[in-house]
Amino acid sequence: MTQTNRQLVLRARPKGLLAQGDLQLAEAAIPSPAEGQVLARVKYLSIDPTMRVWMATDSYLPAVGIGEVMRAAGLAEVVESRTKEFKKGDKVVGLTGLQDYCVIDTANKAARFQKVPPIPFISDTAFLGVLGLTGLTAYFGMMEIAKPQKGETLVVSAAAGATGSIAGQIGRIHGCRVVGIAGGAEKCKWLTEELGFDAAIDYKAADWKAKLAEATPKGVDINYENVGGEIMNAVLERMNLHGRVVLCGFISGYTKAEPEVLSAGLLIVKRLKVQGLLVLDYLDRFMEAATQLGKWKMFGKLKDRETIVEGLEKAPEAINMLFTGGNIGKTIVKVS
Ligand SMILES: NC(=O)c1ccc[n+]([C@@H]2O[C@H](COP(=O)([O-])OP(=O)(O)OC[C@H]3O[C@@H](n4cnc5c(N)ncnc54)[C@H](OP(=O)(O)O)[C@@H]3O)[C@@H](O)[C@H]2O)c1
Repeated sequence: MTQTNRQLVLRARPKGLLAQGDLQLAEAAIPSPAEGQVLARVKYLSIDPTMRVWMATDSYLPAVGIGEVMRAAGLAEVVESRTKEFKKGDKVVGLTGLQDYCVIDTANKAARFQKVPPIPFISDTAFLGVLGLTGLTAYFGMMEIAKPQKGETLVVSAAAGATGSIAGQIGRIHGCRVVGIAGGAEKCKWLTEELGFDAAIDYKAADWKAKLAEATPKGVDINYENVGGEIMNAVLERMNLHGRVVLCGFISGYTKAEPEVLSAGLLIVKRLKVQGLLVLDYLDRFMEAATQLGKWKMFGKLKDRETIVEGLEKAPEAINMLFTGGNIGKTIVKVS
């Protein structure tokens, strides 16, 4: 048990990728929980593209203030409890922040802590990935918005990432032709050879738009969009009339100052149904999604992969990996 609480504090709003010093390591005393509170030791941190948004601007949550501990989801183990809701040794997921220890105030529902059920053969880190927010995002985006039908063509961008890899497999489970878009041969090979995607397009190759057309001979019925910009516009060009677009994320724009350019006219011409998705809207259905995802995983229908970075101090590098494509599957920091 470390004697101090190491914390990554936001010192400056990044421009582009995170630069040295935007997040700075600081040390504080380990807090003592008051009545109704819990002290928990953070074991794993979920590294998410939205953290870059939280550093920059108000969005669906307020921007993190300068001088505050950086907001992050994580998995923590209770070390001291002054509430009946949690006991010592319980594992919980919620907004722990980038730090060694966090205090959970059971009255503060905004921190969204939930107990992790002990399930045989399921690792703790799965509750940050395939059974955590990114798995849930893929599940609700596909099941509630895309509603995939057998024989339809689904295109997923950032397909080798945490959300995209699960969204594509859910489409495959429902009998879709699944085409993933990802950066580089290694990721494309993983998608087709391991995850059962029908085709994978390396958007870093010069002829990728021609390859996308070849891979979608009957057009595209569903676009699960994680990237935005040029990639989204190329997929919109391939959409069939009355297709569905799940707007999950626009990662290509998060490190840029200027807004993304969207070929919005195509939405009209192709009479597309476009819906934005925010996973937090579905948190009360966590168990439903986690149970289904868990069953698919246990029966070998759903595969997941994690990129684990060791050390709290490496979190800024891990965040940047999401924007340079250094990760495959879910990116997690092992705190100590
Ligand atoms: N709406 C919600 O509730 C919600 C919840 C969770 C996540 N999301 C969104 O889902 C998306 C994926 O998030 P994730 O956590 O699963 O991350 P991730 O996909 O595991 O990692 C991000 C991936 O994006 C790709 N990427 C980064 N910059 C790119 C660019 N300029 N052009 C093309 N691809 C780029 C990289 O892969 P390549 O090597 O293939 O480039 C990288 O591996 C993000 O847009 C995120 O904001 C939304």
